[in-house]
Amino acid sequence: MSADFQNWATSCQARIETFLEARLPAIDCVPERLHKAMRYSVLGGGKRVRPLLSFAAGELAGADVVRVTSVAAAVELIHAYSLVHDDLPCMDDDILRRGKPTCHVEFDEATALLTGDSLQTLAFEILAEKRLTDGPESQLEMIAHLALAAGSRGMAGGQAFDLDSVGKPLSLPELEYMHIHKTGALIRAAVMLGARCSSRLNDEQLGKLDHFAKCVGLAFQVVDDLLDTEATTATLGKTAGKDAENNKPTYVSILGISEARELAQKLQCDADQVLNSFGEGALRLRQVTDFIIKRKF
Ligand code: IPE
Ligand code: IPE
Ligand code: MG
Ligand code: MG
Ligand code: MG
Repeated sequence: MSADFQNWATSCQARIETFLEARLPAIDCVPERLHKAMRYSVLGGGKRVRPLLSFAAGELAGADVVRVTSVAAAVELIHAYSLVHDDLPCMDDDILRRGKPTCHVEFDEATALLTGDSLQTLAFEILAEKRLTDGPESQLEMIAHLALAAGSRGMAGGQAFDLDSVGKPLSLPELEYMHIHKTGALIRAAVMLGARCSSRLNDEQLGKLDHFAKCVGLAFQVVDDLLDTEATTATLGKTAGKDAENNKPTYVSILGISEARELAQKLQCDADQVLNSFGEGALRLRQVTDFIIKRKF
């Protein structure tokens, strides 16, 4: 990773942290326990990959960084909510997340459920509270896009498919369907919402960006599956080997490690290729993609 990319990523991460810190209700605000759990689950952890993608896409589109910060925060809040629920005993039953006890372990299951609910609605509050695009119609489209990406035809639907697939040897198209929904949908939203903070890109360019985001979204979960097998709990900050323990079909269980790694690399090539027509403006998107593929956690 170049020093230039590292500096850029650090400044984006700091910007998103400051925004979220200010926007999440304080711990002395009633009900204190719920607000404490929300802050616990969002602040001071995570790679913030989705915000990085929003900022990179926003830069490509020449969008105002203040607008992009709001959409990046909204997507990250949906992501944080999805992790809190993903870790619940009724789902993956995990005790460690971002190097800390999971929300339901630190607090309790009911609080974790409400934390997820509240993070999700806070995301939409942020998207709706001030002007984030050049016109009201495009902002409504933005809100609808995130709702679709998070719901039963997006992330939550992918999670339902994931739970339904325990112990089943999925076909490759089924596995792709699951990953594109449970992880890809939100990654796509991160890219597209960042770009749509400006109206500078035309429909053809937005189509290309969406194709790019689709490749990256799938690649992200392929790498997540690989790390679950190859990395340690200490590096990941979440329990390694959990997919095998829970009998989940993954790219590793179906293709094996080396083919899954090849697939991630092929998806990176496809993603890079789609960006060719954007020239230098797509540098940050290429760098974030490279980080997603090569990450160790
Ligand atoms: C983990 O996402 C869950 C998946 C969708 C695979 P991340 O790897 O982005 O988790 P954090 O935000 O960095 O903790
Ligand atoms: C989770 O996928 C995708 C979400 C929507 C949260 P995983 O269950 O593989 O995520 P980790 O490995 O627990 O982070
Ligand atoms: Mg899961
Ligand atoms: Mg999980
Ligand atoms: Mg995983």
